[in-house]
Amino acid sequence: MPTVIEQDRTTLRGGHPEARPRISRPLEYTGSLDTYQCQDLTPVIGREYQGLQVAEILHSAERDQLIQDLAVTISTRGVVFLRDQNVTPQQMRDFAERLTQLAGCPESSGLHVHPLTEEGSELGDQISVISSEKQKKGGGLTHQLNDVSRLASAGWHTDISFERVPSDYAMLKIHTLPQTGGDTLWASGYEIYDRLSPEMASFLEGLTATHDASFFHEEARRLGNPLRRSLRGSPLNHGEDLKAVHPVIRTNPVTGWKSVYVNKGFTKRINGVTKDESDVLLQYLFNLLTQNHDAQIRFKWRKNDMAIWDNRSTWHCATYDYAGTRTGDRVCSLGEAPYLDIQSQSRRQALSETQ
Ligand code: SIN
Repeated sequence: MPTVIEQDRTTLRGGHPEARPRISRPLEYTGSLDTYQCQDLTPVIGREYQGLQVAEILHSAERDQLIQDLAVTISTRGVVFLRDQNVTPQQMRDFAERLTQLAGCPESSGLHVHPLTEEGSELGDQISVISSEKQKKGGGLTHQLNDVSRLASAGWHTDISFERVPSDYAMLKIHTLPQTGGDTLWASGYEIYDRLSPEMASFLEGLTATHDASFFHEEARRLGNPLRRSLRGSPLNHGEDLKAVHPVIRTNPVTGWKSVYVNKGFTKRINGVTKDESDVLLQYLFNLLTQNHDAQIRFKWRKNDMAIWDNRSTWHCATYDYAGTRTGDRVCSLGEAPYLDIQSQSRRQALSETQ
């Protein structure tokens, strides 16, 4: 496991002292995954591996090195896709725990328990069942096209940014699929940062935003489950106030790259400016994400495929264009309290310096 390294605090903005990453330098890829065939799916986001089974990696003699290299790859490419995974929910939990620890999450961060997870749920507290049946009863971020919105893009979000300590990685395996439809899209927060003018980027770097999931109270009532108020994977995540303030631009500690960190699902307000200014800024940032299809990847699931993504530097959006059943299991690990290192670089800056 990475050991705690004291960070130079003078260049950091934000980040709660109880939830700092255990690494102060980006992690380096060692090449251990080079024996697997893989393909980058677009220039900026997404990689698909052939023949990589997470359950086999868990039992490999090289386990920790392989998992740490996978963490670096996920954080660099935003999302990786692994076809036809033979893995149990318990193995997914074990894998997610190692992934976040080997990537340097704070000592206090574990796997998230979603506020809507039912007490005593069959697969355990840390597995969220993603289910089209539940979505029909719920509401929240599911955004089936309805009389409120006909915009499928309303569902773009990053997981659980309403928590003080939000997610670093998420793993989703879809095991039941409709005949067609139900694709998921991801977009790169690094690339959206790179599309800002230097003046706009530096203005946004001075700002924070409030993320708010109070609508989950209503959803919990509709589903008939009490909201989870006890610890949700970190001593800083508890209670019924599902709100957090995070920097608008954050640094991903694994790559050292800056990313835009506001999302359509949860970010309600940029702080320190008027409500009108906040609305305009947020709408502009959301437009950059939804209208730049060259910052996105669209994945067509097959049975038992898995995606693992970095929630710090990507957004995702499900597609509700099907009538049949679609079900899967998701595990979210918690990383650090978001911070901005003003000395960190953008993805393009970093890659052009090393190429
Ligand atoms: C999620 O938003 O985490 C689930 C995405 C999906 O169902 O495709």
